[in-house]
Amino acid sequence: MDPLSLLSLARATRPSLTLAAAAAPLRSRSLSGGARIAQSRRRRAARLSVSAVAAETPRTEDASSPSPSGQELFDWRDQWYPFAPVCDLDPGAPHGKTVLGLSVVAWYDRGVGEWRVFDDACPHRLAPLSEGRIDDKGRLQCVYHGWCFDGAGACKFIPQAPALGPPVHKNSKACVASYPCVVQNHILWFYPRAESEHKDVLQRKPPPLIPEIDDPGFVTVYGIRDLPYGYDVLVENLFDPAHVPYAHKGIMRGIRKKEDPGR
Ligand code: FES
Repeated sequence: MDPLSLLSLARATRPSLTLAAAAAPLRSRSLSGGARIAQSRRRRAARLSVSAVAAETPRTEDASSPSPSGQELFDWRDQWYPFAPVCDLDPGAPHGKTVLGLSVVAWYDRGVGEWRVFDDACPHRLAPLSEGRIDDKGRLQCVYHGWCFDGAGACKFIPQAPALGPPVHKNSKACVASYPCVVQNHILWFYPRAESEHKDVLQRKPPPLIPEIDDPGFVTVYGIRDLPYGYDVLVENLFDPAHVPYAHKGIMRGIRKKEDPGR
């Protein structure tokens, strides 16, 4: 599945690493012992995608209990995730993405002026809702048989159901899982738990706020790129600017000539 990486850079006075610059090289010509170990780790991490990490994550009830060492375990599903900067999202169409191995669709509910994030699977025959459309009433319509869903995930219309028959669209099995979501820092965030006990998560535990992004004194650059390795390798790489003049030789602005490895 596609890991998602989003890097927001906010700097007014000095250049920052771009996301391209942050991408670690996975090969090198000649390696020291330490570098070989690092490369081996990177290869292993590359095989271990975010979805694989998620698959190994303990279930919530297990994650809430302390580990044998007494430390609380990290629950991957109990976090907010950036879906995309809203400037990249067309409010007239649904958008699909895979996060933590979970296929989700974001769409703009123009009736209330808010973005929604659903499971990207129609409850009828599991067609991806991201392949559908926003209908003339502002509902998310499945591309396969035309079922329509409101912003809460409730099915509002089944075209094939007899108009005078039972209201089959009201059956709970006709609903789509709708995740808590919010636009903050111009980014659409979602929380990948659809159970009712998580409906108030925005009040209890909002997404991380970065005040500088909303500060006009800073310049913000958004970028999204799928990277074929785990988040831990990327974080390690971002903390390691010493590689920049070598791994990104000639493609980074602001690198002083005296740092050139050729001297
Ligand atoms: S699969 Fe969506 S309406 Fe049939």
